[in-house]
Parts: sequence; C-alpha cells; structure tokens
Amino acid sequence: MKTADTDILVLGSGIAGLFYAIKCSAFAKVTVVTKGHIGESNTMYAQGGIAAVFDATDTVAEHFNDTLTAGDGLCDRPTVQLLVNEAKQCVLELEKLHVDFNKTQTGQFDLHREGGHSHHRVVHHTDATGREVENALVKIARSTPNISILENHFALDLLVEDGICKGAIVLEPVHNRALLVKAKLTMLATGGSGQVYAHNTNPAIATGDGFAMAFRAGAQMMNMEFVQFHPTVLYAPGKETFLISEAVRGFGAELKHKDGTTFMEHYHPLKSLAPRDIVSRTILHEMAITNQPCVYLDLRPFDKQEAEKHFPNICKRCADEGLDISKDMIPVVPAAHYMCGGVKTDLKARTSISHLYCCGETSCTGVHGANRLASNSLLEGLVFAKQASEEAHLLLSNLPDVESGALNIFSIAATDSDVTVWKNKTALQQIMWDDTGIIRNEIQLEICIDKLGHMKEETERLINKSGVNKERMELLNLIETSLLITRCAMIRTESRGCHFRTDYPEKEPVATDTLIDKWNYEYKAITA
Ligand code: FAD
Ligand code: SIN
Repeated sequence: MKTADTDILVLGSGIAGLFYAIKCSAFAKVTVVTKGHIGESNTMYAQGGIAAVFDATDTVAEHFNDTLTAGDGLCDRPTVQLLVNEAKQCVLELEKLHVDFNKTQTGQFDLHREGGHSHHRVVHHTDATGREVENALVKIARSTPNISILENHFALDLLVEDGICKGAIVLEPVHNRALLVKAKLTMLATGGSGQVYAHNTNPAIATGDGFAMAFRAGAQMMNMEFVQFHPTVLYAPGKETFLISEAVRGFGAELKHKDGTTFMEHYHPLKSLAPRDIVSRTILHEMAITNQPCVYLDLRPFDKQEAEKHFPNICKRCADEGLDISKDMIPVVPAAHYMCGGVKTDLKARTSISHLYCCGETSCTGVHGANRLASNSLLEGLVFAKQASEEAHLLLSNLPDVESGALNIFSIAATDSDVTVWKNKTALQQIMWDDTGIIRNEIQLEICIDKLGHMKEETERLINKSGVNKERMELLNLIETSLLITRCAMIRTESRGCHFRTDYPEKEPVATDTLIDKWNYEYKAITA
C-alpha cells in the first residue's frame, strides 16, 4: 500500500478540522483529508451563528444556565463552563482570521436571538454565518505552507495498533487505491450524520463516517440516541432542503396554522421559541390532528426590508418558491438536523484511543447533554479544536515517528455506481425516519434494528465479495451510525431532551449517559 507521513492528520475540513489544522500549523506539519471539495461541510450551511456573550445586559452565567436547561439534565457542567468561558475569545479570534460578523452602527456585534437563549446572543453574518466562517478558514488553510490538503480523499478507516491510533487508510480519487497516511496524532472531525434520515437539513457529505470509523476502531461512544430535529425546514416537496433559521422566530415570526391561528401557547410558555425538541414534536402533533402536511411561519407583520436585511438568503429562497414574505406565510416542517451524541471526548478532545482526538459534531464532549442549545455547535467546534491544539503542542515533540506494519486490508472496487447501494441508502433513510424518528417506541426500534441488521449483512457481503468504494463505505457507515442511534434509543427507557419514547414518556430521576463500544454489545446505560 502507498504510504505518506505527517505529524498531524486531520480528517474533515469543517470549522472544527480547519480551526484545529490552522492552530497546529504553527508547530507541526498538518495533513487535512476531506472527502469532497474542501468547503463542503455542515459548517458551510450554518445560518444562525455563534453563541457568545457580548450584550452588556447578558452574562456568561446565563449562557451557562441556558445551555444546561436545553441539555435537560444531562450536560457535563465543567465542560459547559469551559465552552461559555471561551466563547467570546473564539469569536474574536475568528475576526482576526478575517471573518466578517455583522455590526451595529455603533460598532458592536449585531446579536440575533434563538430558541432557549434568554438574551440576544448570536453573533452572525446575515443568515449565512457558516459560509462566511468556512470560506475564511479555507482561504487561510490553503495559503499556510505547513498545511497539505487532500481533497476528494475518503477516509475508510482509522489505523489503530496496540491501542494507539497511527493515522488512517484513505481512498485516493484518481487512482482509486488505498493510501495509508501515518501520523503521530490524528484528529477526527468528520461532522454529523443527518443523511441517516429521509428528511434532514444536512448536505450529502453528512453520512456519519466518523462515528462508524471510531466505533469500528474501538472508541467509546456516548449518547448516540440524541438526534436533534430542527422544527422549521422549508416545506417544498421534491426540492433541495432549506433551513428556515431559528433566528427568524427570534426576530418575532410565529408558528401558525394555514388559517392564521397560533398553537404553541398551548404547549410551552416560550411559545414559538420553546426548545427545539418541544417545537418539533408539537408541530408533528399539530400536523397529525389537523391532517395537514406542514405548519407556517408568519413574517407578514414585520417590515419586509428589515426582514430582508437580516435574512437575505432565506427571503430569496422563499421568493424563488413564489412566496412573498409580506403576503404569504412560509410553510415549514421538522427535519433531522444535528447529532448531539458521538465519540466520547474529554476537556482536551482526547478519545478513549491513544493519539486519537475528536472535535466538532463527531465528538460528544458533554456540552449538549440531551439537546443542544442553538448556535452552540460552531462554538463547540472552535473551543475543543483550540483545546486539542494546545495538547498537541505539548505532546508532539516527544512523540517518535510512526512505525506500522499495516497490510493492504481493503480490496478496492473498480466501479463507483451501484444501484443496490443507492436503493438501500434510500430505504435506510425512510426506515430511520419512520422507526427511530422524532417519536419512538420499543416495537418500532426493534423492527428497525432487525431491518438494519439485514442491510448491514448484505452490504458487508457485497464489500467482501467485490471490494470497497466510497458509496459502499458511506452506506456501511450510515447503517452503523443508524444502529448506534437505534440501539442507544432502545436502552434509554425514558424521555429526555430530543429522545422521546411514547412507552416511557417520563424522565428518570437520575440522568445517565449511554456509553457503548464495540465490545459492549449489551449497550448498557452507565451512570457517568
Ligand atoms: P462539518 O462542518 O460537517 O465538516 C465535516 C468535514 O468532514 C467535511 O469537510 C466532510 O467532507 C468531511 N468528511 C466527512 N466524512 C469524511 C470521510 N470519510 N473522509 C474524509 N472527509 C470526511 N450550528 C451552529 O452553531 N449555529 C448555526 O447557525 C447552525 N446552523 C446550521 C444550519 C444547517 C443547515 C446545518 C446543517 C447545521 C447548522 N449548525 C449550526 C450545526 C453546525 O453547522 C455543525 O454542527 C458544524 O458545522 C459541524 O462542524 P464540523 O467541523 O464538526 O463538521
Ligand atoms: C438555525 O439557524 O436555526 C440553526 C442554528 C443551529 O442549529 O444552531
């Protein structure tokens, strides 16, 4: 197998991977491997912004409390403390990296408000914050001599020997062959897994590769059952998914039925700005009892020009759909959005495998608990990338070059298109939406595990017989991630945060984390 050496290997080029790579490039040779174009990531599509305390009437203590409230009893308090303490500094660092956040006429950050926040606290660049951040980081990464970027390179698996991570096996695009990238330290920053669900807000790259790779390598995983569904995705069947940012509700838009009646006041005192899990379940319930395919967001009472100033992309997309926001309400439905669980990490982004680090959406730091507070995700990526880079700086000079006797363990398939793979991916997404979706119960979860088990066997057989390629591996990773979500959902016999079970609608008095690894197939809940 062809090999390459680097000090630090970074898998993924979203906010977490690139911020880490840029920081580490000050003292190390860094290789960034990313499966598509460097900018293609969940980060690119982030709308609302980054939560940080800049308002004079706001406090870090309130950001801390809001995060804990959203997390529904399951957040790790010291980790949340670190997150909120570091928020302001991280935003200022991004500014130094030429990220252009919107300011008021007096030069202060213009702050949006989102669900669960007790103050205006969301630093943003109109309604395209992710694009602004991602483009700035890409520009710096591309021009940094110590950073090598391997685009269109798909990480197949981590290389772990004697409990130490020594890099990863990567699929090269042009020659369609495996490349072993040996590294003293490896950072897993491959983002989320929205593509597990038929309806989701994520781009096509979000296939849960990092969760599956880490699990196969033996890493401990935490709280995989907590999938956050965003309440307001534009209802436009057959069209490309488009999020209607929570900041639109923070601006004042209310959720309504087609006839203009409101309903959120019957469910939560914060009405349309209630926590996401409550709004998503309520919308689903209201759609069911009114037999309607969607509900609506009403921007009509607001000044159109002002709305367009804050949300130019959202207003444009609405206009493209023939909606005039001063006359028409915006049809919306919930969709899978964010994975709160992931690879268990500590305050330095260390995983349970030596020399393997993880940050961003793939990690489970303990910050989000059972449900993530809006706009805490980009922030988490920054804070833990920074923590990990400080750790790398301390460690790196004492680490020897990597020796590895890795064999060519992958047989590479000649072709890339596969009707069976496409068919199974579509089937998997529908199974997960129907059986391990917003509302769950034991019977559906059991049925789901059964169906996924068969699909996994079939996919493994295909790979063993005729080799691996990107699409086959993505399918296997989607199946593995789905199994992790569903098995964890099965053993959490309570309802908490974004995990809701009709057969266990109450919360257990003591909050526990779900910890699993590949040797613990019992998937026992362990009190942290
Ligand atoms: P990503 O940005 O997803 O990057 C992952 C990278 O890994 C990509 O480059 C991908 O190509 C690469 N990759 C994946 N698998 C492989 C593989 N096998 N081999 C090689 N490379 C691989 N959060 C907020 O805080 N505020 C917001 O306003 C906000 N809005 C959002 C709006 C939308 C529509 C979406 C989808 C998410 C939003 N989020 C928001 C969530 C947030 O954007 C993500 O959680 C965050 O960007 C994740 O960053 P990341 O670096 O961990 O992963
Ligand atoms: C949004 O803009 O509504 C998304 C914010 C987030 O997911 O944090």
